[in-house]
Amino acid sequence: MIDKFERNVIITAFCLSCLFIFSLLYAMGSRKADVTECLPYDKSYETARVNQVDKSTYQIFYVARMWNFEPAIAYIPVGSEVDLFLTSLDVVHGFDIYNKNVNLMGVPGGVAKTTIRFDQPGVYKVVCHEFCGTGHQNMQAEIIVNFPKK
Ligand code: CUA
Repeated sequence: MIDKFERNVIITAFCLSCLFIFSLLYAMGSRKADVTECLPYDKSYETARVNQVDKSTYQIFYVARMWNFEPAIAYIPVGSEVDLFLTSLDVVHGFDIYNKNVNLMGVPGGVAKTTIRFDQPGVYKVVCHEFCGTGHQNMQAEIIVNFPKK
């Protein structure tokens, strides 16, 4: 026979868990959170580059190492959708784009991917947010979003 007090605790715990899961799903939906993908690794991710896929779709392959990102500057036209890929050649680095909902980890031997749109022109600062040694605070890059050439 289950104790009355014990039963109340179980019911309360169950309700709180449901509320927690519900609020998690709700937050994901309302903020349109894009869950970071982890892809199978291959050596091609170790080459930093910017690819144009079509008129308004780009890929940026970022390589992090102590203490810089490559490409240090990427030019993207306004209104583009960009697939970001990130890997690291040494230790774990962070990747945060100021004013954008992007937060990746660069892990050696792994690649993280996310997709973002740039609808406003500007200079978007990228910083490393994972302490990675004495040059950590200087580890940054820029994504320059400007109007396409006519
Ligand atoms: Cu890279 Cu901190």
